[in-house]
Amino acid sequence: MARTKMIRRWRRNMEVRDDNAYVERLATLSEGSVNRNFSPYQDIEWDDPAFDVIPNDPRWVLTNSDPVGRHPWYQAQPLEKQIAIGMWRQANVAKVGLHFESILIRGLLGYAFWVPNGSPEYRYCLHESVEECNHTLMFQEMVNQIGMDVPGMPRLLKWISPIIPLFAVPTPLLFFFGVLAGEEPIDHVQKAILREGADLHPIMERVMAIHVAEEARHISFAHEYLRKRVPTLRRRPRFLLSLAVPVTMRVLCSAIVKPPRSFWREFDIPKQVKKEIFFKSPEARQMLSDVFGDVRMLCHDTGLMNPLARLIWKICRISGDASRYRSEPNRTHLPIAARPLAAAPQPESIPA
Ligand SMILES: [Fe+2]
Ligand SMILES: [Fe+2]
Repeated sequence: MARTKMIRRWRRNMEVRDDNAYVERLATLSEGSVNRNFSPYQDIEWDDPAFDVIPNDPRWVLTNSDPVGRHPWYQAQPLEKQIAIGMWRQANVAKVGLHFESILIRGLLGYAFWVPNGSPEYRYCLHESVEECNHTLMFQEMVNQIGMDVPGMPRLLKWISPIIPLFAVPTPLLFFFGVLAGEEPIDHVQKAILREGADLHPIMERVMAIHVAEEARHISFAHEYLRKRVPTLRRRPRFLLSLAVPVTMRVLCSAIVKPPRSFWREFDIPKQVKKEIFFKSPEARQMLSDVFGDVRMLCHDTGLMNPLARLIWKICRISGDASRYRSEPNRTHLPIAARPLAAAPQPESIPA
C-alpha cells in the first residue's frame, strides 16, 4: 500500500504540464538548444595549423585562475616543466569532463525514459544529452590532440560510475544536485580562465568558449528543475536532502577538480604543495566557497538551509554567502601575485 502511494507520488511528480511558467521556461531552453548549438567537428578547426600542438608552447602554462597555476611552487618551476604540467592538467580536466558528462548522459536518458508523453522535460533532456555527447567528442579530441595519456577521474569514481546514473530515476533531486556539483566547478574555472584574458592555446580557448556557452543552459535547467520540485517535498525527505546536498557538492567537486594520484607522481610535486592547492591555502578555500554561491542561493530559496545543513556546509568547507542572482561575480577577492607570463618566451625560441 505504502509502495503504491510512493509510486503514485513519483508518477505525479513527473507530470509538469499544469505549470505554465515551468513549461514556458523549458520551451525557451529547448529553443535555445535548437538556435544556438555547436558541432565539435564543424565549429572547431582541428586541421588549421594554428591549432597544432607544438612542443614547448608557453600558451599551455596554467594561469592564475587554475588552482595549480596560481601556486608559488608551480610558478617557480622551469618553463618547460610548467608547460608539461599545463598540458597534462588541461588534458586531464577535459578527460574528467567527458567522464562526468558520460555519467550525466546516462542519467538524463534514464530519467527521460519515464517521463509521460507530451512532457517538455523529455525534449529538453534529449537536447541536453545531444549537447553533452558533442562535448564528450570535443573533449576526447582535445585529449588526443594534446597527446597525453591521462586517466581522467579518480579510479574509485570510475568504478562506481555505472551506479550513479541509476539515481536519476528513483531520486532525481539528488541526481540533479549531483549534476550541479559537477557542472558548477567546471563552469566556474572555465569562465574564470576565459575572463582572465591570458594568451591561451586556440584549442583550449575554443573548447572552453563552446562549453561555457552551452553549459549555461544545462545549469539553468538543473536550477529550474530543483526550484520546481524541492519546495513541494515532504518535511523528512527535504531535511535528509538538505544534509546530503553539501556532502554531494564537496565529494564530487573534489573528485572533479583535484587531479588523480598519477599527476602528483609524474611531476614529483611535494605533498605539502598538493595539500595547499587542494584545499588548505586561503585562495583554495575561497575558490571552494565561491564555486557554490549559486547552489547556496538555490538551497536558501527552496528551504534546504536549516541549522544542521548549515553546519554540514561549514564542515565541508563550502559555506559562504549565497549569490544574490545566478552567476553573480564573486564578492570576495583575495589578492593573487602577478604572473611572470609576459616574460615567457615564444614557442619557436624555446628548444624542443
Ligand atoms: Fe558539457
Ligand atoms: Fe552540461
